Amino acid sequence: MSTRRIVLSRSAAIVGAAATGWLLPATAGAQSAKLRVGLMLPYTGTYAQLGVAVENGVRMAIDQQGGKLGGREIEWFKVDDESEPSKAVENASKLVQRDKVQVLIGTVHSGVQMGIQKVARETGVLSLIPNAGAHAATRALCAPNVFRTSFTNAQITLALGPAMVARGHKKAVWITWKYAAGEEAFEGFKQSYPAAGGSIIKELGLPFPNVEFQALLTEIAALQPDAVACFFAGGGAAKFIRDYAAAGLKDKIALYGSGFLTEGVLDAAGPAADGIITTMHYSDSLDTPRNKQFRMEYAKAFRSQPDVYAMQGYDTGLLLVHGANAVQGDMEAKPALYRALESAVIDSPRGRWTMSRAHNPVQDIYLRRVENMENKVIGVAAKAQADSGAGCRMG
Ligand code: BEZ
Repeated sequence: MSTRRIVLSRSAAIVGAAATGWLLPATAGAQSAKLRVGLMLPYTGTYAQLGVAVENGVRMAIDQQGGKLGGREIEWFKVDDESEPSKAVENASKLVQRDKVQVLIGTVHSGVQMGIQKVARETGVLSLIPNAGAHAATRALCAPNVFRTSFTNAQITLALGPAMVARGHKKAVWITWKYAAGEEAFEGFKQSYPAAGGSIIKELGLPFPNVEFQALLTEIAALQPDAVACFFAGGGAAKFIRDYAAAGLKDKIALYGSGFLTEGVLDAAGPAADGIITTMHYSDSLDTPRNKQFRMEYAKAFRSQPDVYAMQGYDTGLLLVHGANAVQGDMEAKPALYRALESAVIDSPRGRWTMSRAHNPVQDIYLRRVENMENKVIGVAAKAQADSGAGCRMG
């Protein structure tokens, strides 16, 4: 498959050149050494499955391009970040200082991302964020060498409030893990739900990755809201969905969420997930040739169904291929590399998206409902949604 078919650039000239191969190093000027790529992801703990899906997606995109970046072979380095913020700077430094990676792909957890961000800003290493939605990474602490292929935490929940009110659910309880991702997802919900006419009667939380939900579910039952909205992900999300149903709330109080609630967990959650409505920048059921092709190829390669994390990993791989090809594998050609990454138009399974000035995707947000163990698209909640990028000054 040509570069052109999977990554479109705003510059037709560059895309045409890349597609026909004359920008790629055939012989002269080729970077001979292997390109060193670091993966810093969770491979243990409640986000372990998310880390594996991201890595699968990255590798699949690069394998589809012959397993090379800008004509160079790749040497991979991996660290399990355990979703542990206190080890984040040390782990990222190992990859950058000890292993001398030229690209650092990571991570999933917003708290860990802030450690990576510190190392990325201090060392200038190219940092590609394949999931974590931490606002600061593409707001006040944005940097020319940091690019996100996923979302900001509030970007997803900004679309949730109006969808709930439109269904007549005007009195809600919010519940989440109390760490950056949950708190920032609440920021989006707090902005969108009251603006649409809803009222938030209580904000509940528990520390990440605690899954002792019982006391909070009892409190929700007593509060009798019209709906519950939440942020949970990974193994903890599956347990929350099951516990919600087991507490007898499923058929009484509508459950909504930032879409991570129902990503990659539908087998584990079972029928308890049926009917949950979420907002998200992806859906399994997107009826496009691009998504169908991606899902088929992923299932064939990994014998499992892709989820949003796999898709984001895939897009990270697409972006990296695009950037590396534009500089013929010379990752030190930073101005040209950044220009290519900034102007990429990613032809993604989620739909085409572009980079904002703060290096975060501008993308459609879908409304989905779980039906028969699938996240079915039931509408577009927001078109070409951008994060505010507030406070971002590229140095
Ligand atoms: C986060 O920590 O940013 C995050 C983790 C899992 C899913 C979505 C966001």
